[in-house]
Amino acid sequence: MANSDKKASTDAHGTATKLVRGGLNRSRFKETSEAIYMNSGFVYDTAEEAAGRFKGENDGYIYSRYANPTLSIFEERMRLLEGAGGALGTASGMAAVNAALMSFVKAGDHVVAPKALFGSCLYIIDEVLPRFGVNVTLVNGTDLDQWKNALSQPTSAVFLETPSNPTLEIVDIAAVSDMAHKVGATVIVDNVFATPIFQKPLELGADVVVYSATKHIDGQGRCLGGIVLGSEEFIEETLFPYAKHTGPALSPFNAWNLLKGLETLDLRIEKQTDNAENIAEFLSNSSKVKRVIYPGRTITHRLNLQKLKCAVEVH
Ligand SMILES: Cc1ncc(COP(=O)(O)O)c(C=O)c1O
Repeated sequence: MANSDKKASTDAHGTATKLVRGGLNRSRFKETSEAIYMNSGFVYDTAEEAAGRFKGENDGYIYSRYANPTLSIFEERMRLLEGAGGALGTASGMAAVNAALMSFVKAGDHVVAPKALFGSCLYIIDEVLPRFGVNVTLVNGTDLDQWKNALSQPTSAVFLETPSNPTLEIVDIAAVSDMAHKVGATVIVDNVFATPIFQKPLELGADVVVYSATKHIDGQGRCLGGIVLGSEEFIEETLFPYAKHTGPALSPFNAWNLLKGLETLDLRIEKQTDNAENIAEFLSNSSKVKRVIYPGRTITHRLNLQKLKCAVEVH
């Protein structure tokens, strides 16, 4: 955020290159792996330099609750991968979900979400927001008529997961985004299950994407982390002031772990998808299993999960 060098010219590179090189910003020591800037604050050569930085008149880091060089590399790598205008790393997936919503939703607003949500996301939408005077409508996410009814009034935000955790419900991001934009809503997609390898919600019409980086992005059970991605305007003007003052900041050490995780994301997802297909097939052939919910490999490989009508059911 505070570093003008970070937007390295890697927009044109392929996914595998972005996963390893995106946002790389070596120090003067020319380290191979990204440096971990495990510090809270930064020093200034002069009082004028400090004043300029605090006023936002010149580039440079101030305090790691606002921005940190290791975090900036992680944010830039994810920004490139997602094709977003901006990105902000957070301490966990839930910190990302909470900040994305709380940064702009206010009392009296209307928010729409599917019932099939990860439990903690449902808690924020259905327990926390109403406490602050937000009106919430929950719909069956696979039923576009229910979305249409819910989105027939002015709405501030739509929040959805697709595939949902844990029931793997598929929501049509493009259709819901179309309806949501007509009533003024910002569409936030929790893309944890699909990962940026299989689904790019911004390309399908969503405005904001959130991740629990704890899951596939780290992929090795080492740390918590999250990230919010969207237009440069949303990240810089709406989310950043909220995060800067409320403090869901990601630790530089965890940002580094997540960078290491990203390096192998495509390879791991490929293998996990193969494994999931084999397990789904095995379970489908078992007389002891009543129902297998499996959105399917061919769909996920084509980046068009939203076209899937429903999960495969086998009795
Ligand atoms: C879909 C979804 N969203 C958000 C979260 C929360 O992420 P974290 O545990 O990193 O806070 C999870 C965690 O399992 C999840 O599956």
